[in-house]
Amino acid sequence: MNKKVAELLNAQVNKEFYSAYLYLGISKYFTQQNLPGFASWYKVQAEEEQEHAMKIYEYLLDQDEDVTLASIAEVKADLKSPLEAVKEADKHEHYITGEIVKIMDAAAEDKDYRTQLFLNWFITEQEEEERNSKDMVIKVEMLGNDKKNLYLLDKEVGSRK
Ligand code: FEO
Repeated sequence: MNKKVAELLNAQVNKEFYSAYLYLGISKYFTQQNLPGFASWYKVQAEEEQEHAMKIYEYLLDQDEDVTLASIAEVKADLKSPLEAVKEADKHEHYITGEIVKIMDAAAEDKDYRTQLFLNWFITEQEEEERNSKDMVIKVEMLGNDKKNLYLLDKEVGSRK
């Protein structure tokens, strides 16, 4: 595998683990706000992110590449509202999509068809991730200002397994 592609994939392992960390922070915020449905949703999301990281980790090892397990950045804990929390997640997903596209570009430039094929799964996944996070922002924007509506929304959101 081309050095640049391997480095980008390595960095992405770290970014996916950071995503898990970020979502755990959002889950914690919602737990502390007595919104267990949202807390559960973001905890499930944190678990998914760890799966994303492991997918790339395993792909690199399968290709006989090394995996760097760099330190994961700290998550700042100053969320001020449910809307800010869900917007943070939405912004992050757009950032992650951009990073996946960068790896795809590098793989395409190197005619690394295997990595492009591997990354197709992430391209599709990011479409779903962006749709879900946008959906969440829309719902909280519509209903989040009213405590009773937020309570009902929390019940709905909490049904995600
Ligand atoms: Fe692993 Fe939410 O992207």
